[in-house]
Amino acid sequence: MYRTKTCGELRIADVNMEVTLAGWVQRVRKMGGMVFADLRDRYGVTQLVFSEDSNAELCERAAKLGREYVIRVTGNVSERQSKNANIPTGDIEIIVSEMAVLNEAETPPFTIENNTDGGDDLRMKYRYLDLRRECVRSNLELRHKMTMEVRRYLDNLGFIEVETPMLIASTPEGARDFVVPSRMNPGQFYALPQSPQLFKQLLMVSGFDRYFQIVKCFRDEDLRADRQPEFTQIDCEMSFVDQEDVIGTFEGMAKHLFKEIRGVELTGAFPRMTWHDAMKYYGCDKPDTRFEMKFVELMDIMKGHGFPVFDAAEYVGGICAKGAASYTRKQLDALTDFVRRPQIGAKGMVYARVEADGNVKSSVDKFYTQEVLQQMKAAFGAEPGDLILILCGEDTMKTRKQLCELRLEVAQQLGLRDKNKFSCLWVVDFPLFEWSEEEGRFMAMHHPFTSPKPEDVPLLDTDMGAVRANAYDMIINGVEVGGGSIRIYDSALQNKMFELLGFTPERAQQQFGWLLNAFKYGAPPHGGLAYGLDRWVSLFAGLDSIRDCIAFPKNNSGRDTMIDAPSVLEPAQLDELSIAIDIKK
Ligand code: AMO
Repeated sequence: MYRTKTCGELRIADVNMEVTLAGWVQRVRKMGGMVFADLRDRYGVTQLVFSEDSNAELCERAAKLGREYVIRVTGNVSERQSKNANIPTGDIEIIVSEMAVLNEAETPPFTIENNTDGGDDLRMKYRYLDLRRECVRSNLELRHKMTMEVRRYLDNLGFIEVETPMLIASTPEGARDFVVPSRMNPGQFYALPQSPQLFKQLLMVSGFDRYFQIVKCFRDEDLRADRQPEFTQIDCEMSFVDQEDVIGTFEGMAKHLFKEIRGVELTGAFPRMTWHDAMKYYGCDKPDTRFEMKFVELMDIMKGHGFPVFDAAEYVGGICAKGAASYTRKQLDALTDFVRRPQIGAKGMVYARVEADGNVKSSVDKFYTQEVLQQMKAAFGAEPGDLILILCGEDTMKTRKQLCELRLEVAQQLGLRDKNKFSCLWVVDFPLFEWSEEEGRFMAMHHPFTSPKPEDVPLLDTDMGAVRANAYDMIINGVEVGGGSIRIYDSALQNKMFELLGFTPERAQQQFGWLLNAFKYGAPPHGGLAYGLDRWVSLFAGLDSIRDCIAFPKNNSGRDTMIDAPSVLEPAQLDELSIAIDIKK
């Protein structure tokens, strides 16, 4: 038998028990005639003791154990003299009487402890060793627990999990597809699904009125801390539902997860904000509402007083950072540099401090009377000790986005983005279309199957940009953890959508004919949502990047450095696929 107990379960009550443990040697220390070793497995660490007095030969062998050797030991559980309160097994140790080295190990390239000396790249290259570290392993354990709870919640509500194909057809909307060449169909490619969207809609036509799938999705996008090229969705769809039904079901799931995983009981309905308000007050469609700092528009107050920069701007607006008037000139200059970074793109920043006597002191005092500055102060509801930061620009949307970055940066600096505080929000009433400068046309903001609000249907012909969708996103702490919509189930309206999106009937038929045909055979009203599992786990685990809750993630260039993928193919393989490579410089 390899083991009778794990390395994480022995306690003081087990003293005198004879046990056999197996695991990895984390550390070996020699002290006088004794050798101490920490033995690790998935469940914890247990201290082993080898004594020269009782078994010299065994003690000598123990002294030669290397880090990460795989061993099996048998011995008696004994109370420790110097207890270690930091680990659950810290009250006991094993007085070893027998040991077998099951496998030797080369010295690992970094220390396998929470506080490791291994840098990011090294740890990714040896991810299987990184995963031995408790702090990484616990993220995967949390992930497992969450998927179990998701399945339990949905199963209780009568949802069934159905798998949909991974080799599908490429579609032009959305992100870029990852494609897979077909050997049997030379010159033709499958695409890996960006989501099971169309298949789940077909399942509704098939009568599976409550579907879910914990499913891998693939998107060839630029990567960020919360984006991986392959990621996992908790994908759901329901029939005979309206927006309230879907929101209710998935708000329920969110509450279930908070309760079961974090022990947090969330009561009452989650707040909702229209997309329009999110943009106006926070400059983005995923506002971090752990703190207020709403935008205040100042065009009426600050324009027309001879400050040329504001006078020429379409948008002038700012935020009020509570109690931040103590910001030094140096800190303010650093914030100005921050908003001027090319990726943010503001030209400059105006600041104003509310002093102890209530007077406002600003960086543009020479253009404004105290009376105007007081009006500005009142617009923010600012008080002595507060700091007002203002941006302006020729393009309202762009300036709001810049102000959004400034708001988040200041909140970070003021410690307002507390990882242990959660603020959930539904953003609703998204526009159905958004204008794409790149394409010079309107594109579907969510996807082409999202239904317009019935009351906005007449606007499809007159003012596309104003049509609102039956679409909703769930935002937690400024992270989009999920999104969905009520779908179009009427072929005439779907055809109209394609027409508005610039598809000829032939192209719509060619690309989505199978869906349009299916809709002719009795499509029920339906809608759904997909949560991003990786984002949920990283929020609950307090991680900075979703990478840390994925067993084998890609790096920021989309590479898996451990298996060295992507990689080139042998000429014979390319030949078989009828593919010639022509790398553009
Ligand atoms: P959407 O594109 O909003 O909707 O995706 C749903 C959720 O998936 C997560 N997500 C990602 N997570 C990690 N890396 C990525 N690259 C990534 N992209 C998206 C986000 C997001 O909210 N079919 C629709 C859903 C529906 O309408 O039912 C869809 O895919 O958390």
